[in-house]
Amino acid sequence: MIYQVYPRSWADSDGDGIGDLPGITARLPYLVDLGVDALWISPFYRSPMADAGYDVADYRDIDPLFGTLSDADALIARAHELGLKVIVDLVPNHTSDQHAWFQAALAAKPGSPERARYLFRDGRGPRGDEPPNDWQSVFWGSAWTKAEPAVLVDDGNGATFVKRKAQWYLNLFDSAQPDLDWSNPEVREEFDSVLRFWLDRGVDGFRVDVAHGLVKQEGLPDWNARAEMAGSDAEGMHTGAAPMWDQDGVHEIYRAWRRTLDEYTPTRADGSPDPAGERILVAEAWVEPIERAALYVRSDEMHQAFNFHYLNAHWRAEDLRAAIEQSFRGNDLVGAPTTWVLSNHDVVRHASRLGLPVDQPRPQGIGADDPQPDAEPGLRRARAATTLMLAMPGSAYLYQGEELGLPEHTALPDDVRQDPAFHRSNGKETGRDGARIPMAWEADAPAAGFNTTGEAWLPQPEVYAELAVDRQQGVEGSTLELYKTLLRLRRDRGLGSAGLARLEGVDADSPDVVAYELVGAPGSGSTADDATRTAVVLNLGPEPVALPEGEVLVASGPLDDGRLPTDTAAWVALA
Ligand code: BGC
Repeated sequence: MIYQVYPRSWADSDGDGIGDLPGITARLPYLVDLGVDALWISPFYRSPMADAGYDVADYRDIDPLFGTLSDADALIARAHELGLKVIVDLVPNHTSDQHAWFQAALAAKPGSPERARYLFRDGRGPRGDEPPNDWQSVFWGSAWTKAEPAVLVDDGNGATFVKRKAQWYLNLFDSAQPDLDWSNPEVREEFDSVLRFWLDRGVDGFRVDVAHGLVKQEGLPDWNARAEMAGSDAEGMHTGAAPMWDQDGVHEIYRAWRRTLDEYTPTRADGSPDPAGERILVAEAWVEPIERAALYVRSDEMHQAFNFHYLNAHWRAEDLRAAIEQSFRGNDLVGAPTTWVLSNHDVVRHASRLGLPVDQPRPQGIGADDPQPDAEPGLRRARAATTLMLAMPGSAYLYQGEELGLPEHTALPDDVRQDPAFHRSNGKETGRDGARIPMAWEADAPAAGFNTTGEAWLPQPEVYAELAVDRQQGVEGSTLELYKTLLRLRRDRGLGSAGLARLEGVDADSPDVVAYELVGAPGSGSTADDATRTAVVLNLGPEPVALPEGEVLVASGPLDDGRLPTDTAAWVALA
């Protein structure tokens, strides 16, 4: 189980209102207590923060906002002492416009080796004043930014001619995030060296940002559609048809990276690779259909890829079942375990998302003028969704604060919003700030214990204090204790690697019930006799349903006379 730490918002040790690496290190014991295996830290590199650090100016240094390289070393060392693995975020699709390479590219001439590391092209039209193609940025507007105007020369007779057309560079995200040209071997060498830099410092793996975007279709053809990054609905996700996404050429890059990572896998006394020390790659690839997504986790490529089907599913039994079963089908094709996630820093937190009308497509942020989520069913469903998810075989990813049931901040004033998608769309897209609010540790402390000064780069809604860690720790029925119980049982019953089948019989056959049986092998030395049989049952119908016979291990909410009420999930140890 991997826990995502968003460093700006987790723990702020120096009180400047922005979280930092010493803050993370100090709070690591919390993660051990929660029961996580690894943490994934969103980017902490030197960055002008045009996209909250996903615009990297120096891949080998820490941004002063977050600390220093020795703070990173201390974090990694302390995590390892505590038995936690550390996964860092790698951003290979684009750099910051402040990166030394891009600055050199701007200073150099069209056609120069400096420009060849990025995607510079002449514009269309007689002077090149139109973008080179029709691609749209994920963050709205054209995906091209003009680097310099046309060079016009006076022909001596009072007329001008175009000596050189205007040049543009491609930015699939913000104009402060120029896309690299991955057909250039220099780019490949540089990232191999960056991987080694962090592997040498002891990191256990990389979450690869926009893993499906690095290679663009030859000739950069027009596309006539806007490529959303996190499609607002399952149907809106990318297909291989888009010339900027999921091109076959990306796979060679990951095969090369895998070879590099494998060099770092320690060997056992007998010389065989020790899987416990394996360094891993995790793809963030919003790719459809699932068979295409599965290609990223072939045995010689990445170890895992985020599976967004469950996150995108509507709160209906048939949709949840389809998302789950499709996920297994896709990954079975390549023999890799699937992954599960409900929230991250790019989507509306699931405690709020699930409080919106069921048929509504997944929103790209929620603002004060939008219909507001209903908090009570939202949290009830969020707890049930997590209870179902944490029974599933594969790797589960949690996003900081979801273990407290933190909602999205749905009433942020526009003037504090920082998401470039909000600004580039002139507010048409609310954006992701509401999911990135500083964490709540202690109800009565300044900024709910995020620091000691009360400063916070985004304001916390009032409800965060009530939901703070110290209000939930040890409190029976709290969301935090539910997560701890689920994670402990998941480990004890070997569910992460269990076999899964649909549960038959009892009320499990009702169309409103999602029910599976898991056969788990606890521990590596276990035999068939030690196998655990666990049922997970989620009821989405209006009436309570009977649970299968056995001991109820955990439930996401109170049972109704032994029966499972609506929007509630439970695990039962089958006899
Ligand atoms: C990250 C976003 C980021 C984008 C561009 C995404 O996959 O998760 O937060 O804005 O990539 O780097």
